[in-house]
Amino acid sequence: MKTVKMVLDKSYVVAPVDKRVYGSFIEHLGRAVYGGIYQPGHPEADADGFRKDVIELVKELDVPVIRYPGGNFVSNFVWEDSVGPLKDRKARLELAWRSLEPNTFGLGEFSKWCDNVNAQIMMAVNLGTRGITDACNLLEYCNHPSGTKYSDLRREHGVEQPYDIKLWCLGNEMDGEWQLGRKTMDEYGRLSQETGKAMKLIDPSIELVSCGSSFMGMPTFPQWEATTLDYNYDYVDYISLHQYYGNLNDDSSDYLAQSDDMEEFIHTVISACDFVKAKKRSKKKINLSFDEWNVWFHSKAEEDNITQRHPWQIAPPLLEDHYTFEDALMVGLMMITLLKHADRVKIACLAQLVNVIAPIMTDEKLGAWKQTIYYPFLHTSKYGRGVVLHTPVKCPEHETKEHGAVKDVVSVAVFNEEMEEVTVFAVNRNLQEAVKMEADIRSFEGYEAVEKIEMKADNLKARNSLQQETVKPVSVKDVRIEAGMVETVLKAASWNVVRLKKK
Ligand code: AHR
Repeated sequence: MKTVKMVLDKSYVVAPVDKRVYGSFIEHLGRAVYGGIYQPGHPEADADGFRKDVIELVKELDVPVIRYPGGNFVSNFVWEDSVGPLKDRKARLELAWRSLEPNTFGLGEFSKWCDNVNAQIMMAVNLGTRGITDACNLLEYCNHPSGTKYSDLRREHGVEQPYDIKLWCLGNEMDGEWQLGRKTMDEYGRLSQETGKAMKLIDPSIELVSCGSSFMGMPTFPQWEATTLDYNYDYVDYISLHQYYGNLNDDSSDYLAQSDDMEEFIHTVISACDFVKAKKRSKKKINLSFDEWNVWFHSKAEEDNITQRHPWQIAPPLLEDHYTFEDALMVGLMMITLLKHADRVKIACLAQLVNVIAPIMTDEKLGAWKQTIYYPFLHTSKYGRGVVLHTPVKCPEHETKEHGAVKDVVSVAVFNEEMEEVTVFAVNRNLQEAVKMEADIRSFEGYEAVEKIEMKADNLKARNSLQQETVKPVSVKDVRIEAGMVETVLKAASWNVVRLKKK
């Protein structure tokens, strides 16, 4: 059997895991809000109209930060429409997804919902069809205590204490031709510089995310990053990365090799940030906010059909990807890739959270259920808190059509000193062969295996549904520890969580 060998040493630390890498995203899109987190009249709805079944699943995922309200939606959003008494709120045409936005759920409702799931808001401002003034007004409404037009408006709306939102996105995917109010890199550079400057004058305690390229394949990547940061470097703290993958050619080996592209994407953005840092002779480091990542490809045809032929519906079923087992492997690979860069990736948002390219789905009349991708996210969020270890790995490879020779196993180790636990997350993306894992853990004296969680399905295309959870993790007992060496077998095409704890 092929063998992957690794050394785990508690003294060699990449960086602490910023818990915000387990963030997610709720956009006013499809059934994410209406019929997702909010559905008055549903048997599971609480007094605020929030679905309790969804709240329970989100709480289980332990998502510390949630990006809101978009996404593409934000680029034509008029935030004033979504606050204040419900009776005064009017519906609007929503142009990004060509839907009807009833505005019966807005910032106030979202903040209350976030309190229910113990999450902070990551708020985006509209730099598409609006600009500096509206961003400042919104920030004043959210964070200023009282005595000004917008802080007093918030108080009139029954919210005495400021929302105190700490993390703000300066627009969304401003390079994209699909974006309302798309900008050139110079236009966005200047606008984000001036908006960032003004926002930090209102509240210097906030952190700002500059829009990076919409994805790695954009023609202006990575010049966009270098040029826009050149303008706004002094005012922003993070730059965003967005990337979705899919098995478009139905070649599963190549599909799972795409996490190597994500790796390269991260390296290139770090290089662009550090290039500008060097150019400016700056001491400040810009970190990465990977604030949209996931698999997204199953639902593209329905999306085109609804937005082009059946527009202006309230909460149509958009972007409802029904995920397979191999998608769960891909999500596991992406999460591992993010964790490996814990020194620079400080924020990441699984896009999205409910119904729209989501780990959690709801039935209109019945309950909520877990997609296949729910599990790798759950496991990393639950056991991947602590510090990421530098782990030298010697790994066998297999051939793929597009990516050439790629490593069979992609893994990361996280040490939680407080809990005296070290966990290895590993995907064997070799679809044919099992690989033996050998880990040298001599620096973790007295540690024993507490659990090995495995996800493996005979059919790569297996899916879950409300009625049946076909793809789910199991506990397996095949971890041996002897003389400081851990041995276990990573089955072909499998997700693995090996948990070790001090006796
Ligand atoms: O998450 C779905 C969409 O993907 C977002 O609205 C947009 O930012 C991205 O293109």
